[in-house]
Parts: sequence; structure tokens; C-alpha cells
Amino acid sequence: MEDRIKQDIKEIIDFNSTSSVEIEDFRIKYLGKKGLLNSYFVEFKSLDNDKKKNVGQLLNQLKNTAQSKLDALKTQISPGSTKTTINDISRTGEPIELGSRHPISIVKNRIVDIFSNIGFTISEGPEIEDDWHNFSALNLPEHHPARDMQDTFFIEKNPDFLLRTHTSSVQVRFMENNKPPIRTISPGRVYRNEAISARSHCFFHQIEGLCIDKDISFADLKQTLEYFTTQLFGKSKIRLRPSYFPFTEPSAEVDVYWGLNNETDYKMTKGTGWLEIMGCGMVDPNVLENCNIDSDEYSGFAFGLGIDRIALLLHQIDDIRLLSENDVRFLDQFKSSL
Ligand code: DAH
Repeated sequence: MEDRIKQDIKEIIDFNSTSSVEIEDFRIKYLGKKGLLNSYFVEFKSLDNDKKKNVGQLLNQLKNTAQSKLDALKTQISPGSTKTTINDISRTGEPIELGSRHPISIVKNRIVDIFSNIGFTISEGPEIEDDWHNFSALNLPEHHPARDMQDTFFIEKNPDFLLRTHTSSVQVRFMENNKPPIRTISPGRVYRNEAISARSHCFFHQIEGLCIDKDISFADLKQTLEYFTTQLFGKSKIRLRPSYFPFTEPSAEVDVYWGLNNETDYKMTKGTGWLEIMGCGMVDPNVLENCNIDSDEYSGFAFGLGIDRIALLLHQIDDIRLLSENDVRFLDQFKSSL
């Protein structure tokens, strides 16, 4: 009998639960009318006198342990459990959960700061665009094959309207409403009718840059980009690969030299050391004319980059979907970033 009681005491000590149903079962099992304690007392009565002292002590211990366990479990789950301490004004306050900036905002703010420092203003435009600002003014007339480069979500009831496929639409709006000199960057969300996977999404974020003035040359573009990659990545070596965009001539793809210092570098750059980060070029004179800017007097450069891609890169995130799922376990990890 003694061993059984000792075993029960051990089980009581080990018991834990936050479920009121389980706690009530616990009470019934040990302290209830037909519970273990009472059944032991029945047995106790028929014990030899010499055993009664020892067993009696153990039964008391069983009772007290079960009772204090029950009290402790009840306080733990009762909402009024802090009542006793609420008047204690020296009590430390409840911690306030602070949020964190979204990784997209962190990267966007950094890029905005970098360009603000060299005189670029920030401009924005609508996400629902018309054909003119998203395509035609950017040297992409109707039926131009380059329109296929960007799978577009059209507004069903009025296909003249669409979800903008790039932030280049904002440079058109800005040029229509402002006279050169122009230095502006336009961050924003863009949409493409693409299958969602770890590598692509139907919406993402871009930053568009535009600089228009007298005598702006390709050298100005290159120097600005070198300044940018140095500030953002701490890497100043870039290369400009000839490319094609309808709104720039000449056009280029910008690669930054990341290096091959470790395995991650190899993986990220597919063993080349180079990483493609953006598109750019000299604004096509047709685009300037479409926006009522005299292309004989003015020239300029433009560039566009994906913020999501940079955020994935800088934080070594391997699935773009994480950026829009808003899972706090993911977002919490950016608490220390500005
Ligand atoms: N609009 C392009 C895209 O979405 C990016 C881009 C490339 C913007 C070159 C530019 C540029 O302003 O000059 O792929």
C-alpha cells in the first residue's frame, strides 16, 4: 500500500494541465468522494496498528500534495489570477509587443534614402493604369510584340484599363506634369499575370528612376548606378550588358560583381560572381516627345529594379511568397532592421 501511495504522490507532482476539464478530472480522481484518497482511508482502517503511523503520514502527504496542486492549477488558468498583485504599483508593466517593418519597406526605404541623398524626389502613380501610361507613351504601340514581355491583367469591363505591369508608367506621368530638370524615383507595386511559385508572383514591387536634363549622357547613368550599388550592397564593380527595352535606347541590363567568396556567392551567382539586378538605358527620344519634352534640348536616363528580388537577396530568403503571406513568425525576424 505504501508503494502505491508513493507512486500516486509522484504522479500528482508530475501532473500538469491548462484544461479545466482535465483539472476537474484530476480533482475527482484523487480528492472526489469516490476518489483514491477516500478508498485508501477505507483500507487504512483495517490496517495493523503498527503500520498505521507510516501510512497515515503518507496519506496526509497525498492529500496535501493533491490539494496544493489543484490550487496551483486553478490559479494558473483563472483570469483573475493576477488579482492579488494588481495593486502592487512597483510591478513591472506588461511587455508591449512591437511590430517590425516589412522587409519590402526596409529595402524600399534604403533605396529611397540612397537616391534622396543625390537629389532625387519621390513620385507615385496609380496601380490601375490606362494603356497610354503603361504602354503607348513608353514606345509600346498597340500590337507591338514587346507588350508580350509583360503578361498583363486587364480590367474585364474596360480593357483600356489594366493593373500596371511596371512602375515605368510613373515616369510618363511625372514627365507630363513636370518640366526638366527631373530627378525622381517611383517605388510601387506592379502586377503580372504569372503563375505563383517560389520564384515569381502575380504582384511584386519595383523602383523606377528617371533623370532628365540638358547634356545627360550614358556616363552619368553609369556613375549613378555605381554610386547606388556601392551604397546598397557595398559593391562598386558593375557591368552593363546590352539589352532591349522599348522605352530606352540604348538599353542595358546591370550586373553587379558579387564575388565568389563562399558557397552562398556561388549559389546566388550560379558560379559566375555576377548578379543581374536591374534594367536601364537612355530614355528613347520618342518617349520624351510623347511627354512633351523637347528631345533635341533634353536627354536622360532611366532604370527599373525589383524590390522583392533585392529583399530576397539581402536576407537570403528563398521563397518570394513569404513576402506577401504576412506570417508573423517570418516578419518578426526583421525586428532589428530599420
Ligand atoms: N520596366 C522594366 C520592367 O519592368 C524595367 C526597366 C528597364 C525600367 C529599363 C526602366 C528602364 O526605366 O530604363 O522590366
